[in-house]
Amino acid sequence: MDHNPLFLCLIILCLPSVCVFAQTKSNITVGESFTAGDGNSTWVISPSGDFAFGFQPLAGNNDQFLLSIWYAKIPNTTIVWYANGDNPAPKGSKVQLTAAQGLVLTSSNGGDLWKPDSIGGGTVALGALNDLGNFVLEDSTSKSLWETFKKPRDTMLPSQILEKAGKLSSRRSEADFSQGRFQLLLQDDGNLVMHSINLPSEYANENYYESGTVESNTSSPGFQLVFNKSGALYILRENNETYSLGINVSSSQFYLRAVLNFDGVFTLYQHPKTSFGNETWTSLWSHPDDICTATLVSTDSGVCGYNSICYLGDDSRPTCQCPTGYSLLDPKDPYGSCKPDFIQGCKEDELSGGNDLYELEVLTNVDWPLADSVLQRPFTEQQCRQACMEDCMCSVAIFRLGDSCWKKKWPLSNGRFDTSLDGGKALIKVRKDNSTLFGPPAPPIIKRKNQDTLVLVGSVLLGGSALINLIFFSFIYQLLKKLKNVNQSDSDVKTNLRCFTYKELEEATNGFKEELGRGAFGVVYKGTINMGLSPIHIAVKRLNNFVLKEIEKEFKNEVKVISQTYHKNLVRLLGFCEEGAEKLLVYEYMSNGTLASLLFNDVKPSWNLRQRIAFEIARGLVYLHEDCSTQIIHCDIKPQNILLDDCFNARISDFGLAKLLNINQSRTNTGIRGTKGYVALEWFKNMPITTKVDVYSFGVLLLEIICCRRSVDMEAENEEKAILTDWAYDYYTEGCIEALVEQDEEALEDKKKLEKLVMIAIWCVQEDPTLRPTMRKVVQMLEGVSEVFYPPPESP
Ligand SMILES: *[C@@H]1O[C@H](CO)[C@@H](O)[C@H](O)[C@H]1NC(C)=O
Ligand SMILES: *[C@@H]1O[C@H](CO)[C@@H](O)[C@H](O)[C@H]1NC(C)=O
Ligand SMILES: *[C@@H]1O[C@H](CO)[C@@H](O)[C@H](O)[C@H]1NC(C)=O
Ligand SMILES: *[C@@H]1O[C@H](CO)[C@@H](O)[C@H](O)[C@H]1NC(C)=O
Ligand SMILES: *[C@@H]1O[C@H](CO)[C@@H](O)[C@H](O)[C@H]1NC(C)=O
Ligand SMILES: *[C@@H]1O[C@H](CO)[C@@H](O)[C@H](O)[C@H]1NC(C)=O
Ligand SMILES: *[C@@H]1O[C@H](CO)[C@@H](O)[C@H](O)[C@H]1NC(C)=O
Ligand SMILES: *[C@@H]1O[C@H](CO)[C@@H](O)[C@H](O)[C@H]1NC(C)=O
Ligand SMILES: *[C@@H]1O[C@H](CO)[C@@H](O)[C@H](O)[C@H]1NC(C)=O
Repeated sequence: MDHNPLFLCLIILCLPSVCVFAQTKSNITVGESFTAGDGNSTWVISPSGDFAFGFQPLAGNNDQFLLSIWYAKIPNTTIVWYANGDNPAPKGSKVQLTAAQGLVLTSSNGGDLWKPDSIGGGTVALGALNDLGNFVLEDSTSKSLWETFKKPRDTMLPSQILEKAGKLSSRRSEADFSQGRFQLLLQDDGNLVMHSINLPSEYANENYYESGTVESNTSSPGFQLVFNKSGALYILRENNETYSLGINVSSSQFYLRAVLNFDGVFTLYQHPKTSFGNETWTSLWSHPDDICTATLVSTDSGVCGYNSICYLGDDSRPTCQCPTGYSLLDPKDPYGSCKPDFIQGCKEDELSGGNDLYELEVLTNVDWPLADSVLQRPFTEQQCRQACMEDCMCSVAIFRLGDSCWKKKWPLSNGRFDTSLDGGKALIKVRKDNSTLFGPPAPPIIKRKNQDTLVLVGSVLLGGSALINLIFFSFIYQLLKKLKNVNQSDSDVKTNLRCFTYKELEEATNGFKEELGRGAFGVVYKGTINMGLSPIHIAVKRLNNFVLKEIEKEFKNEVKVISQTYHKNLVRLLGFCEEGAEKLLVYEYMSNGTLASLLFNDVKPSWNLRQRIAFEIARGLVYLHEDCSTQIIHCDIKPQNILLDDCFNARISDFGLAKLLNINQSRTNTGIRGTKGYVALEWFKNMPITTKVDVYSFGVLLLEIICCRRSVDMEAENEEKAILTDWAYDYYTEGCIEALVEQDEEALEDKKKLEKLVMIAIWCVQEDPTLRPTMRKVVQMLEGVSEVFYPPPESP
C-alpha cells in the first residue's frame, strides 16, 4: 500500500494532540477554553480518572450549567466543588484559562459570570485537575496560585484542610447550588462551629454546633480542620493533638466526602470505588446528632421554615412537615415555611360571629420553643384549650409538665418533634369549616356565574368587544361634553413635534391604504415618510368623527401632553396633523405588531419573553401614572394597545387621548355590571376614576400574558372558564395554578414565579380599587423588591 506522506504526517500530528490526548487530558494551558452545552460535559479528567472538571447541567434544566468538579466514575453525578452556584451559566457560556485572572467564565453575550476572587498577582501558566479532586492553577514554576481545595463550597475531600476562618457553605437545596442557609466555620479561637445565616446580609445566628476546641487549662485551641489522606477527619490543635470528629475510615476502597448538607447537617459519606452501578453514598457519621433540637435560634425560623415541624430521620437528616391545616408557602420547597390554609385574626373572628370556629389538632412531643406569648401555671389542659380558643391571637398552645400552658403566636419558629418533651402536647388551632376559608363573607355585591354571567355572555356574543367600546365611548362622550364647558385654553401649543400636512400623510400612507388596526379613537394606517435623511415607517392614526366632534380645541393640548412623554416602553409620538375636519397623529411604527397577535396564537411565546413584556408594560404604566409631567391614566390597557418593536420590547400605545378623563368625575350607573373584560368596576359605579383603573386592566392583561388566552373566551369548553379572572381565581384558590398554563413546560418549571405572577394579577383585579396596588408597587413586586402577600378573598 502506498502511503501518502502527508497523510502519515496528519496521523502523527493527530495522535498526541487530539485523538489520544482528548481521552486523558488533565491539564489546561493558558488560552484554552471550553463551552457549556457542547455535547460533552467534561473538560479535563484527573489522571486516575476519578474526578472530572467541566460543565454539569443543572437538574431539570438543560440550558443552565454549573462549572464544577464531580466524581467521574460514579453514575449518579455527585458534585464536590462548583464555581457559579449563584449564577448558573446559560448554554453557550465559555470558561477560559487566562494568564492574568485564571479561569474566567463568561456568558455567550460576554457577561461575566464568575472568576476566582484573587490569584495573588501571579501569572497563570497551567490549570491541572489532580487525583485528589483539587483543581490547581499554577505559574510557570509549578507554584500553586489558586486551588479549589482552598475555596471549598459545601464539600471537603480527603487531603483537604480548612484553615482558621475557613468555611463551608451549604447550597440552597439538593439541586439548587446557590448559597444556602448554613455555614460551618473554623473560628479564630479554634472552635469549629455551625450556624444558620440570614441572607442576603449573611448575619450569623447562634451556633447550633460547637466542637469546643478552644484554649483551656487542659487543652490547646484548634488550629486546622484536617481531612487526611487516609480518611480521618479531625481538628488539629496547636499542640499537635487531634480532636476526632468521628470514626476513621479507609479511603483506599471508598470515595469519601464530608458535606455540609443543605439542611445544615455535616455528614461524612462513603461510596465504594469499585462499582456495579447500583451503589449509593452511605452516611458514616453526622453533626449535630439531632439538628431538630440543636437549633434554637431567635432570629431565624430554625432548621425548617416558620410554622413547620422538624422530624429527625434515621440518617440524622431532618424532614419538615406542616401541621394539619397548614400547607407549604412554596410547594417546591419542602423545608420552607408553612402558611395556615385559613384566616385567623381578631377582626375576622369577630365578624364571623364567634364560637365554635376552630378546633384543636393535637400533636404529641411537638413544640415551638420560641414563640411564646403567655405562660399560665398552674393550668389544667382544659383551661389551656379554652384559653387558646378564646384568644384571637393564639395560634397554638403547648400543654406540658402537667400544669403549664404556653400560648404561642404566629409565626411559630424552631418547630421540632422531641421525645424529651415527655408527652407534652401541642394544641394547634385550626379553622373548622373550609367554607369560611377566607374569613367573613364579602358584602353582598354581585353574584357571579349566575344570571349576570349569562347576560354578559349574551351581550358579548352579540356585540363582542364592541360592547366595551360602546361603553367606553359613551363615557368619553359625556366627559368631553362636561369638560368642554369647563376649561378652554386657547393658548397655542409650542412643541417640537413635526406638524404634517394632510397631503403629506395621505401620500405617506398611499391614500390610507394599509390598515394596521382599529383603536377606540380611530383607524391606524401604515406609512413611510422621510424624517431626516432616510425614509422611516410610521403609523398614522386618523381620529374618527366621534372623537373629533368633542376634541376641538383640546386637540393641541392633548398632543402637547402626549409629546412630552418619553419612555422606552411607550410608543413615541412623532407628529400630528390638524387640517380642517381632519386630525391625525403620527407615531413610530412597531414592526412586531400587537401583543394580542403574539399571545393569542397557536405558538405560545416563551415564558421569559412573556414575563419581560409584563414587566415592561408595568414600567410604562408607572411612568404614565407617576413620572411624567402630567399624570396620564391610560384607561384602555389591553393587548391590542400594547405594541412590540423590532426587539419585541413592549410599548404602550394609545395613551393620552383618554387623559381627559383624568378628573374626579362621578358617573351615573349605567345598569351594566359585573363585566370582567378589562374594565374596572369603577366605570359602572358611582366612583372616581383613578390610576387604579389601569391597574385593574393590567391585572387582566397579566393573566392573559400568563395563560396566553383572552380575558373573555366564549369558546371555552365550560362556563367557568369563560371569564379569565374568575377562572384564574378559582384555580388559584384550589391550588392548581398549573392548570392555568396547561402544557407550558417553561412556566410549569418556574412554578414559584408563576404563582407570584398570578398573585400579583389577582391583587390588581380586586374590585375595591383601594386594595389594588399602585403600578409602582406592582413593578416592585415583579422585581422581587417587594413581597407579594396572599391575595384577599374574591369578592364579586
Ligand atoms: C468527553 O470528553 C472526555 C475528555 O475530554 C472524554 O474522555 C470522553 O470520552 C468524552 N465523552 C464523550 C461522550 O464524548
Ligand atoms: C500536568 O500538570 C501537572 C502539574 O503541574 C504535571 O505534574 C504533569 O506532568 C502535567 N501533565 C501533562 C501531561 O502535561
Ligand atoms: C482552669 O483555670 C481557672 C483559672 O485559671 C481555674 O479557676 C480552674 O479551676 C482551672 N480548671 C482546671 C480544671 O484546672
Ligand atoms: C490520618 O490520620 C489517622 C488518624 O490520626 C492516622 O492514623 C493516619 O496515619 C493519618 N494518615 C496520614 C496519611 O497522615
Ligand atoms: C507539630 O508538628 C509539626 C510537624 O510535625 C512540628 O513542626 C511542630 O513543631 C509540632 N508542634 C508541636 C507544638 O509539637
Ligand atoms: C481517629 O483518628 C483520630 C486522629 O488521630 C484519633 O484521635 C481517634 O481516636 C481515631 N478514632 C477512632 C475511632 O479510631
Ligand atoms: C449490586 O450489584 C451487584 C452485582 O450485580 C450485586 O452483587 C449486589 O447485590 C447489588 N447490590 C444491591 C444493593 O443491589
Ligand atoms: C441516584 O440518584 C437518585 C436520586 O437521588 C436515587 O434515587 C438513586 O437511588 C441513585 N442511584 C444510585 C445507584 O445511587
Ligand atoms: C377542609 O380542607 C381540608 C384540607 O384541604 C380537607 O382535608 C377537608 O376535607 C376539608 N373539609 C371540609 C369540610 O371541606
